[in-house]
Amino acid sequence: MRFLATALSCSLMLAACDVPETGDADAPKVAPVLDTADAVDTQTFAKPLEARVVNVDLDLDLDFAAKKVSGTAMLDLIAKPGVEQVILDDDGLEIESVTDGEGKPLEYEVGEVVEGKGAPLTVTMGDAREITIAYTASDAAALQWLSPEQTAGGKHPYLFSQGQATLNRTWIPTQDSPGIRQTWSARITAPEELTVVMSGLSQGDPEATDDGKRAFTFEMDKPVAPYLIAIAAGDIVFKELGPRTGVWSEPAMIDAAAAELADTEKMVEAAEELYGPYRWGRYDMIVLPPSFPYGGMENPVMTFLTPTFIAGDKSLTGLVAHELAHSWSGNLVTNAVWGDGWLNEGVTSYFENRIVEQVYGKQRAEQEAALSFANIENTLAEVGMDAPGTALHTDSDGGELVGSAIAYDKGAYFLRTVEHIVGRQRFDAWLTQWFDNHAFQPATSAMILADMQENLVRDEEEAKALMLREWIFEPGLPSNVYKPDPKAFAAVDAAAKAFADNRQLDEKAWGNWTSAERQRFLAKLPRKLDNAELAGLDEALRLSDSKNNEELFLWLELAMANQYEAVVPRTEQFLTHVGRAKFVRPLFTTLWEQGAWGQTIATRIYAKTRAGYHSVTQGGVDKVMQGAR
Ligand code: BES
Ligand code: ZN
Repeated sequence: MRFLATALSCSLMLAACDVPETGDADAPKVAPVLDTADAVDTQTFAKPLEARVVNVDLDLDLDFAAKKVSGTAMLDLIAKPGVEQVILDDDGLEIESVTDGEGKPLEYEVGEVVEGKGAPLTVTMGDAREITIAYTASDAAALQWLSPEQTAGGKHPYLFSQGQATLNRTWIPTQDSPGIRQTWSARITAPEELTVVMSGLSQGDPEATDDGKRAFTFEMDKPVAPYLIAIAAGDIVFKELGPRTGVWSEPAMIDAAAAELADTEKMVEAAEELYGPYRWGRYDMIVLPPSFPYGGMENPVMTFLTPTFIAGDKSLTGLVAHELAHSWSGNLVTNAVWGDGWLNEGVTSYFENRIVEQVYGKQRAEQEAALSFANIENTLAEVGMDAPGTALHTDSDGGELVGSAIAYDKGAYFLRTVEHIVGRQRFDAWLTQWFDNHAFQPATSAMILADMQENLVRDEEEAKALMLREWIFEPGLPSNVYKPDPKAFAAVDAAAKAFADNRQLDEKAWGNWTSAERQRFLAKLPRKLDNAELAGLDEALRLSDSKNNEELFLWLELAMANQYEAVVPRTEQFLTHVGRAKFVRPLFTTLWEQGAWGQTIATRIYAKTRAGYHSVTQGGVDKVMQGAR
């Protein structure tokens, strides 16, 4: 009887149940949703245990003149018997009609808007299990439409999307929750001079349409979290990197991009050796214009990258290792709710470091890990060891975590500590089975804890040593943390001290340092410096001319924190060119904190640059400059 009940609920797949173990890597077409309290996503209006979307089929036109996307979304649903309504997420969509499979109009209602969440779109579908929504998305927060002048080529417009965390509901009417996985396909029409890419496999060559456009088709046949649906369109070209890897970018950048990304195929091989097969077919990347608001975004089969990681020497390709690692942690096994974002970002940051170690060696990996540890220490010193936002698991929305240090760095140090205690061999076997057994499914903190207790921890003594529950659910940093090798930066820290003590500078040493070492040095310099000292640093180390944007950013921040007038033009140029929130927001913050001097500069610059930023970056800087606009 119990078996029958399980079989029945499994066939409906409305809740989690024992997914048949196939032993192979094939994805189920319909993935289960979780039904525990800690897996309830407060950021969605959907009630997936009642009715949910399992497939999305988009047919959309890109209108660059009007900056609008319009067309239809056909949704396949499954619902509990007797359920006649489905709730979707809608943030600002203009809905034209909702129809069933036969084209018969269905009743629908857009509810009240909730700040930051959009509104519920409730469709009364009766016993229909296929619905089609005709709609237009204008002013979609996910989308950035660039004018030709905002591109490297200067001749054609450009479009890209950013879905994570809850922005895709501004251009796709579906259930926008990471625990509600959906397969999808799309047909996209665009002006003929543009090429469209998406986070699904391209289905053959584009076709000419009657109205002089081109139609591109894509398919994602594995159920993915809907924040992972992404699109980009522009004057872009492709360059192959390896048998299953390649890169897209504007023609002006393709050679530099391909050179910087030359190790990608090796990274995929390293990742597979570590934690099992890459299950998505191709791994391509697109290097976007510099207004892309993140370093990278792990869109399946098509990682989106900022061009600011191109340093000319592959020194910032940890970013690529990171986005690639999300093909397991995040895209394969996905946080059911954003409050468990460390399951995506922390596991990925750990995995990233293992790829870096494999491809670039132990020294670079340890140095990058040491930078990450400093980030934890600085954040904890700032917010306090018992600030609730410093636990890996946070309730519901995930918005309360302090910066990136907790989900990313504390998350990574958790796994690093576990690895250290149980040994690499056992740890890797455990993580591999975690990915395998939860492939194409959502997960929670409680699930990974239970999984470790069941499949990793050997005995009571080891359980005590691991402090698993404390790591996941308590604030601060557990006492068993496996710290980075203190020697990782010994030479650099001594050099920073020599500068602090008697303004000694060793340009030759700087010239031989790795980027991580340079970043460490810049971070360790005295925070208070006068104009002459800053001028000396800039001249000796050529900081304002740096081609490494992580180093340049640290320098500009230091210079602005000391109100160093001579570097204001370089800062302005940087803020005009780059829209990556991680750089832009702190620079405006630093300027703002300077009082009248910096606020005048920040206000003047932002008036010119704001329109060129993606909504994510605008939102961040608007907060910093409250009262300025
Ligand atoms: N998935 C994130 C980007 C993200 C996080 C978008 C939260 C929206 C909300 C991506 O994988 C990421 O972590 N990017 C980092 C890369 C870095 C840690 C190597 C970035 O953009 O800086
Ligand atoms: Zn990430």
